[in-house]
Amino acid sequence: MTRLELAKQLAREAGEIVLGYAKKGFTTGTKDGGSLVTEADLAAEKHILGKIKQHFPDDGIVAEESGERKGESGVSWHVDPLDGTTNFAHGIPLYGVSIGIVEGNRPVAGAIFLPSLDELYDAQRGTGTRLNGSSIVVSQLGEAASGIIMLAGPRFVDSVKDDELPLQKIIARIRRIRVLGSIAVNLCFVARGAADGGICVRQNSWDAAAGVVLVEEAGGVAVEFSGRPYTIESSNLLVGSRDVASFLKTLV
Ligand code: IPD
Ligand code: CA
Ligand code: CA
Repeated sequence: MTRLELAKQLAREAGEIVLGYAKKGFTTGTKDGGSLVTEADLAAEKHILGKIKQHFPDDGIVAEESGERKGESGVSWHVDPLDGTTNFAHGIPLYGVSIGIVEGNRPVAGAIFLPSLDELYDAQRGTGTRLNGSSIVVSQLGEAASGIIMLAGPRFVDSVKDDELPLQKIIARIRRIRVLGSIAVNLCFVARGAADGGICVRQNSWDAAAGVVLVEEAGGVAVEFSGRPYTIESSNLLVGSRDVASFLKTLV
């Protein structure tokens, strides 16, 4: 089994675990910093990590709930077992399982499963992006100012200051902003052209590694606010077609 095949299988299986908790109920706790963590996050991550270690024991792993394990193969897995935990905990069905495969500091393949929508996205460098097995491409919108832009970051009102992200300016210059509460969902929607672009601040590698490959292989770009290509160390991110990303760069 290839790493991408395993990532797809695990994203789907973990998504089924998460959906199971949505139906039967779950306990919720709070992490340092105030964000929520549920039984579903922990169970999904345990399942994913166990199988990665079994199939690719020499690979590194960076996982949201259990931290980092160094590997020796030069390949690492960046795992968010449930992206959109706050949505999940409140019964909003916008969340996903995100599994990115990274060589050096660049993502090379990834799978995201959105269980409530039964949508499995996958991409591998050089082979395009698929949604449930069919090819998808980013929005072809030429005039970025009339686009829908997905936004994600920590609590905007009290923690993101205007010099980090000039929200008023951005909102004034595009058609609509959407803040859906899951970076993985955002990046899937950009990859399939439902949204025209996306802006993230202070994302972690497990939030974005898989989604970045989805966007790039769907014909888009993923760059830092500086214009440099995304790496797993990036702390901010612009995605979309080349035109949309260039336009967004003028706003941040
Ligand atoms: C969060 C979501 C959210 C973003 C936060 C992330 P989590 O991930 O992606 O959209 O704004 O910065 O931490 O905690 O639900 O896995
Ligand atoms: Ca996340
Ligand atoms: Ca998470």
